[in-house]
Amino acid sequence: MANSSATVLIVGASRGLGLGLVREYAGQGRKVIGTVRSADPPTGLHALAAAGRVRVELLDINHSDQVAALRARLAGEAIDVLFVNAGISDSSADTLPAASTEAFTRLMLTNALSPMRVVEAFADLVVPDGIVAAMSSGLGSVANNSSAGMEIYRASKAALNMMLRSFAVRAGGRRTVLAVAPGWVRTDMGGPGAPLDVATSTRGIVAALAARRGQPGAAFIDHRGNDVAW
Ligand SMILES: NC(=O)c1ccc[n+]([C@@H]2O[C@H](COP(=O)([O-])OP(=O)(O)OC[C@H]3O[C@@H](n4cnc5c(N)ncnc54)[C@H](OP(=O)(O)O)[C@@H]3O)[C@@H](O)[C@H]2O)c1
Repeated sequence: MANSSATVLIVGASRGLGLGLVREYAGQGRKVIGTVRSADPPTGLHALAAAGRVRVELLDINHSDQVAALRARLAGEAIDVLFVNAGISDSSADTLPAASTEAFTRLMLTNALSPMRVVEAFADLVVPDGIVAAMSSGLGSVANNSSAGMEIYRASKAALNMMLRSFAVRAGGRRTVLAVAPGWVRTDMGGPGAPLDVATSTRGIVAALAARRGQPGAAFIDHRGNDVAW
């Protein structure tokens, strides 16, 4: 049963799937905090916040000073769902031979290390039966990689998955830890040819998280709630 008075924190909520998650939880009457990197120009989240219920905070996950500052601002907050959605892709790094060291470093930092630093920084605010989730990708499945391509992106999400599992082991207890594959979704990242719209993916993810509540340990799931092979 969700702790409906506790906060849902969505990190990386200016647009795309993060904004969709905020919209979904706010539509359920939940208290939601969403983060954006900048308030200028105002983002989709700012437009949603103007309608009430949603609070906007600033955070670039690659800046540890900003992570610490937000953690301090949210001290005392009871978080029911911590969802780190922020992530990037890079078409210049489609194959390993094509990828620059700079592209590799940027993808690994933004998609793996920084999301986990956010998880580590905010985990103690999550209620004992709450949910810690990060946006992974079906491309992050090592077991299902039979087509290659987007190779550094895949590796970054596989690294994220591995660190989430380590976190879940260390966290122990009743904590539910989820790596989430949202499907291929029409966003700036997914492009116009993707089969899923944001609302379909995020509605499914929110339902899948609710269904997993109370199941301790780490799982890799898709937007329909099905398990994905690690
Ligand atoms: N779309 C898909 O088909 C698909 C499939 C599998 C997985 N995913 C994953 O789903 C997540 C969301 O993707 P999306 O499709 O919604 O992409 P998107 O439209 O490009 O949005 C990416 C979001 O991440 C934020 N972000 C990027 N770098 C950040 C940083 N350093 N600090 C804080 N926020 C940062 C962006 O903020 P700004 O607006 O400031 O840039 C934006 O809110 C990503 O983790 C992505 O890898 C997407």
